[in-house]
Amino acid sequence: MLKSASKLRNACSMMKFATNFYTSKSFLSSRKLGIPINPDPGFPYNPPVGPYDEGISKDPSIQPSFEFEVDPKALLDSVIRQQIYQQKVEEPFYVADLGDVVRKHHQWTTLLPRVKPFYAVKCNSDPFVLKTLASLGTGFDCASTEEIKTILGLGVDPENIIFANPCKAVSNIRYARDHYVNMMTADNADELRKIHEINPHADVVIRIYADDSKAVCRLGKKFGIPIDLVPELVQEAEEIGVNIAGISFHVGSGCTDATAYSDALLLARRAFNDIEAAGYSPTLLDIGGGFPGYEQPGLVKFEEIASLIRPTLDELFPRHVKVIAEPGRYYVASAFSLSVNVTSKKEIKKPNAEKMCMYYVNDGVYGSFNNIMFDHAVLPNPHIYRKETSGENEEKTFECSIWGPTCDSMDCLTSKMQLPELNIGDWLSFENMGAYTFAAASTFNGFAKARLIYVNSELE
Ligand SMILES: Cc1ncc(COP(=O)(O)O)c(C=O)c1O
Repeated sequence: MLKSASKLRNACSMMKFATNFYTSKSFLSSRKLGIPINPDPGFPYNPPVGPYDEGISKDPSIQPSFEFEVDPKALLDSVIRQQIYQQKVEEPFYVADLGDVVRKHHQWTTLLPRVKPFYAVKCNSDPFVLKTLASLGTGFDCASTEEIKTILGLGVDPENIIFANPCKAVSNIRYARDHYVNMMTADNADELRKIHEINPHADVVIRIYADDSKAVCRLGKKFGIPIDLVPELVQEAEEIGVNIAGISFHVGSGCTDATAYSDALLLARRAFNDIEAAGYSPTLLDIGGGFPGYEQPGLVKFEEIASLIRPTLDELFPRHVKVIAEPGRYYVASAFSLSVNVTSKKEIKKPNAEKMCMYYVNDGVYGSFNNIMFDHAVLPNPHIYRKETSGENEEKTFECSIWGPTCDSMDCLTSKMQLPELNIGDWLSFENMGAYTFAAASTFNGFAKARLIYVNSELE
């Protein structure tokens, strides 16, 4: 629990007024008393759309009261149980712990104090996440007019936005210019020409190609100029008259190797030299995204990446160079869990073989689990919440497959998993579902997107 930074506390206290909002002590106090929490008269909840001061619950059972040590996992478990208990219709739902986002920011500023995070909005544009980050003072990486509009709507200073899409539509550049968003990336001469024509005052950051072979999602085949071609591009920039403010790179989303960052920093230094040789004075370095959103056995930790970046930065770039990053999944992956309902079950019986089950759940690859398609995600093992305990051996596992709700056979969450036998009405809860999930979810086949419930494990 973070107790020191008053900035963080202010951010938290704003959230107290959110709809669908639970504080840590309220739940833990009810748990301690061992009674189910009273259903709020407003159920079922709708996702919040309004400002923070709308819809505060008057239900005394969910007001903060006693002093307890907050265990975020216990809070999450408690909220999930309460949601399931209160469900009238079996809707999939996320529980978002904004306290987790706050803790991530604290970790970032502690381990990378020189690097200002510009959160990548594309990863998860939930309004409460964005508001939390804006309150904490992060900048934002936007890729479109719509994202810029959203962030400006939160009262964020245009200087705290980088338009980090290296290939932008004319209308988008115009919108950015008209709203004083001048910092933007590019990786080719045609883009430089286009930018300069529309906004001669733009501060352009040249995106160089960085080795992304160790990343889950490689971005280099679409964006980034190879380092050897930088001098030529700089020469063209000079002829066009465009201002080059600095260099950016992206080691790929979901980077699994800390040395990808130190190698890319060396390339960025080389590019800085090229720009300086042409007479520019670059003052901005953008080290992109790719930082892990949660710990996975055998994979690199954020701490390891940070401890390599810190000294490398100081060695290669003087203090007057402002350093920013574009973390996406780092901030949000672990803050969201998703619970889905087992709506149907089919037993496959083969002679002389153990039974196998096909389970059908109410969110799939056209919804939250689009990360299986687009983010190379592998379905993690779920926590099981039983509708009823059967009394039989509930630990014995069987092979199963899990399917989404649509009529498409591509809508498969996993073709093979070992799970205890499930029953219709049981719930499966998946952790670490905050990055690249509902950001790209659709309502294909008429299935609504999962709704959102917010908690804050950092709220006192
Ligand atoms: C330009 C840019 N910046 C930042 C990100 C965020 O990456 P991550 O979520 O891996 O931190 C992305 C992801 O695709 C991106 O394209």
